[in-house]
Amino acid sequence: MHPTRVIGLMSGTSVDGIDAALVEICGTDLDLKIELVAGETYSYPAELQEKILAICAGAAISMAELAELDDAIALAFSQAAQNIQIGHPPATLIGSHGQTVYHRPPQTNGEKTSLHLSLGYSLQLGRGDLISRLTGITTISNFRIADIAAGGHGAPLVPRVDAYLLSHPQEGRCIQNIGGIGNVAYIPARCDNWLSQILGWDTGPGNSLLDLAVQHFTDGAKSYDENGTWAASGTPYQPLVEKWLSQDYFHLPPPKSTGRELFGVTYFNNCLQDAQVYQLSPADVLATITELTAASIVHSYRTFLPQMPQRVLLCGGGSRNLYLKHRLELLLASIPVLTTDDVGLSAAFKEAIAFAVLAYWRQLGIPGNLPAATGAEQEVLLGEVHSNNTA
Ligand SMILES: Nc1ncnc2c1ncn2[C@@H]1O[C@H](COP(=O)(O)OP(=O)(O)O)[C@@H](O)[C@H]1O
Ligand SMILES: [Mg+2]
Repeated sequence: MHPTRVIGLMSGTSVDGIDAALVEICGTDLDLKIELVAGETYSYPAELQEKILAICAGAAISMAELAELDDAIALAFSQAAQNIQIGHPPATLIGSHGQTVYHRPPQTNGEKTSLHLSLGYSLQLGRGDLISRLTGITTISNFRIADIAAGGHGAPLVPRVDAYLLSHPQEGRCIQNIGGIGNVAYIPARCDNWLSQILGWDTGPGNSLLDLAVQHFTDGAKSYDENGTWAASGTPYQPLVEKWLSQDYFHLPPPKSTGRELFGVTYFNNCLQDAQVYQLSPADVLATITELTAASIVHSYRTFLPQMPQRVLLCGGGSRNLYLKHRLELLLASIPVLTTDDVGLSAAFKEAIAFAVLAYWRQLGIPGNLPAATGAEQEVLLGEVHSNNTA
């Protein structure tokens, strides 16, 4: 059988740009194979990025502005899909995650809340119907809502894809994505019932607070700490790391999800105020925030996993932060920390690849969520299909 050529489109909570992956996919589960034909990150136009960040931080907009923004993001995603195909045979399917602008986890421990109050809510802009119209390619979008309707968090959605692309016959692995927010998939060694033992959750801040700190200290001249060099020149202030780690989110058992609503501007301003009490230098603030990311990841493994993994594989932009990687290595003691690149799967484009696979599964009628990771009551088909009826 010929492989299916699919484009995965993703922009995460960092709002740094649209990751586009053109992949060839064949197989369905343990025989699933993907080949990355092309991968590229397309920056958002500056004005669009500013608007997205503003509404993520709580700015009010009218319904008309919301519709315009939805269209503008869909247009940017369509252009990414068109550009990634240049020089390659065309794709027959697009899986578009869209841009999250709001995420509210379900209230799982609220007593007797009415159904509509206890369900989660997650809004991704970049409407799939317009992407399908503009590209002429069937587009699957809104991947989170079916899981949310089944009582889940709608996140993380990548663990099933990670399971089939990155599991190992003898080795338990944590696949740790470090985007704006961090999320993990724990994939036990492939023995009996391994699939039912997969876990996943959002670990907390990834790069979101670090990026805000760098933008603050450089008056917006820089957007992130390249390779973690600036943070590496400082020293983490442990009492603050301990204080921040005592916060509720880190102690909530999985399934759990979070976003910029919690680890965004307000959270960063509180960190900054705390840091000012101890007169920390910018480098020390960056080191301390980096330590929070690293320590929150490792703390969640030690607290919530049945056993520690034998290997940790990093992906996402934060996997390029060498200082963060180094701190993770120290905190994980003897457990090797590599990137998914080291085992042949692009660390930069793994999330975009995952949405291509989820779209492919949707077309084949294969569920994409893992209830243990999202908290949904059952496995469901993910994504709304927008067929290309115009061609
Ligand atoms: N070379 C690098 N050094 C340090 N951090 C990096 C590097 N490259 C990317 N990043 C970080 O990764 C972020 C983007 O990661 P990404 O996986 O795209 O996140 P998201 O899914 O939230 O968009 C950037 O905002 C930046 O903080
Ligand atoms: Mg990104």
